[in-house]
Amino acid sequence: MTIEFPFSELLEQLPKQFFASLVAKVGEKIKAGHDVINLGQGNPDQPTPKHIVEAMQRAAVNPKYHKYSPFQGYSFLKEAVAAFYAREYGVEVDPTREVAILFGGKAGLVELPLCLVNPGDVVLVPDPGYPDYWSGIALARARMEMMPLVVEQQFLPDYSAIPAAVADQAKLMFLNYPNNPTGATATKEFFAETVAFAAKHGIAVVHDFAYGAIGFDGKKPVSFLEVDGAKDVGVEIYTFSKTYNMAGWRVAFAVGNERIIRALELLQDHLYVSLFGAVQEAAAAALLGPQDCVNELVALYEARRNAFIAALREIGWEAPAPSGSFFAWLPVPKGWSSAEFADVLLERAHVAVAPGIGFGEHGEGYVRVGLLTDEARLCEAAERIGRLGLF
Ligand SMILES: Cc1ncc(COP(=O)(O)O)c(C=O)c1O
Repeated sequence: MTIEFPFSELLEQLPKQFFASLVAKVGEKIKAGHDVINLGQGNPDQPTPKHIVEAMQRAAVNPKYHKYSPFQGYSFLKEAVAAFYAREYGVEVDPTREVAILFGGKAGLVELPLCLVNPGDVVLVPDPGYPDYWSGIALARARMEMMPLVVEQQFLPDYSAIPAAVADQAKLMFLNYPNNPTGATATKEFFAETVAFAAKHGIAVVHDFAYGAIGFDGKKPVSFLEVDGAKDVGVEIYTFSKTYNMAGWRVAFAVGNERIIRALELLQDHLYVSLFGAVQEAAAAALLGPQDCVNELVALYEARRNAFIAALREIGWEAPAPSGSFFAWLPVPKGWSSAEFADVLLERAHVAVAPGIGFGEHGEGYVRVGLLTDEARLCEAAERIGRLGLF
């Protein structure tokens, strides 16, 4: 007889995965033979650039990499990160003390609360926001205080609205620009304000720069580290998943505050040995090699954005154009909840979108669309929605 082992209390208190039900519903529709246009997820649709795959192929046969890699990653990758930050953002980084290699951005984001907060401590979280922030906070048994992101504030948190008592209790804050799910971008002024607020209240800032490469209309997204004093209060998490279409490779890094980097490496020493050396070599090749592939990718997403937003306006959906990321954040028509509206689009138009409520209370009233299929499919999605006559 197999024993029904109870899960630990820690596992039982993890947040429910809201989007699992969406994935299941989409799967059922496809199984029933419908041609679903799935715009509900954030999985890049393009392959990894050829020169990066080739670097991996060459490195995979190197016996050096068939052994354990150094615990904290290869220094050549950390040096490549420093060269990348100097080249792209004019930011000086010490590769020996200010860079940690991560098994994807998600791992770092989940590890950080475990590194920096105690049970009951307060963590400031954007609402709406990327749900994986909640996971690390739950594992650390900390408490979330939401920072509403609203259109009137360009989807940037309003620090003056955070009660002083909450700010003083907060130990950690997550930010993410270009933003998932709103597609908003940040300014240097906002990051300077963030540094001042964090310094005043002793808060560690984690800027999730997952969409760092994806800014539209010729505007390159700003790195948090470009602002004076940023390294005194925080780190930036940079993933290869989106810039180089390497979501399956699981490679990212944290860069910035030495003490936070030390904490990450210490925790990781206990959790794993570092990434396969060949992946690290390919990652360095991505950072140091030609960047045309990145420019082409941004142009591709921008063309999709323009075509899709124009198609939505044609059907009467007054949709704002995102300034970065590969998401469009679309207000639902009056009288609908985001979940009801997403259900109707899936049921009647066979178009899957992510209901805003899944990203937090302030996501209500919106749905998120990923620009992760070609222009023709995006325009077809808009046409199918138009035929429902809801606008
Ligand atoms: C805002 C944001 N942060 C982090 C990640 C994690 O990326 P990865 O774990 O692939 O590095 C994602 C992925 O979708 C994301 O949307």
